[in-house]
Amino acid sequence: MKFTLNVDHVATLRNARGETQPDPVTAALIAEQAGVDGIVVHLREDKRHINERDVRLLRELITTKFDLEMAATEEIIRIACDVQPELATIVPEKRQELTTEGGINVIDNIQLLNEAIGDLHKNGIEVSLFIEPEIDQIDASVEIAADYIEIHTGVFANCTIEEEQFDELEKIRIAAKHAKKLGLGVNAGHGLNYTNMKIFRELSDIDEVSIGHAVLARAFFVGFDRAVRDMISIIKGTF
Ligand code: PXP
Repeated sequence: MKFTLNVDHVATLRNARGETQPDPVTAALIAEQAGVDGIVVHLREDKRHINERDVRLLRELITTKFDLEMAATEEIIRIACDVQPELATIVPEKRQELTTEGGINVIDNIQLLNEAIGDLHKNGIEVSLFIEPEIDQIDASVEIAADYIEIHTGVFANCTIEEEQFDELEKIRIAAKHAKKLGLGVNAGHGLNYTNMKIFRELSDIDEVSIGHAVLARAFFVGFDRAVRDMISIIKGTF
């Protein structure tokens, strides 16, 4: 299982003062030195944390995989096609939300997503769709030639009752297996942390986990490099 680090909230902190520090690009480079497999940022339409400058500098400087999270809007697709990340992960986006609240409904948005995937593919960019762990959403993703899905793990992560968490994990396990059988790459993310990853890491059909908030929260207390390395150890099963 690979680990891609989301550095959006380094930019949130920077923007809180309207200054230049801390810089998400510096964070990405330090994380690469610590051993992450890729860097994720979400270029939101309102640019509330990551901005175009960050995306362009990241493209120039990082040497691991660049996963650009984005809504399927004309403006952001144009920027993605120009920047050329290795992967574009399409997420639903609501202006009022604090963070992405759930997967995109592929079935209800099939034409829009089909066109977005076509544009991104024409520019050599692989596409992942952030979806709920549901079979019909996976089948629809295959229909429009997505390369990956990213399974929304928020419900699993928020479970406080052990049996419910186990049921959610089973749902994700079945969805991941189905997606793999159909030839999709399978990523997962949202709400994964140093505790629930000790259960989640057992899922053999997950290629990559995308984690942000938990690592940055820990970084405040133990330092950024150490927080990244601790998560790497957990994912590898050595911690
Ligand atoms: N994957 C997607 C699609 C997301 O939108 C986010 C949050 O930005 C994450 C993963 C990472 O979630 P978290 O910050 O809770 O680890």
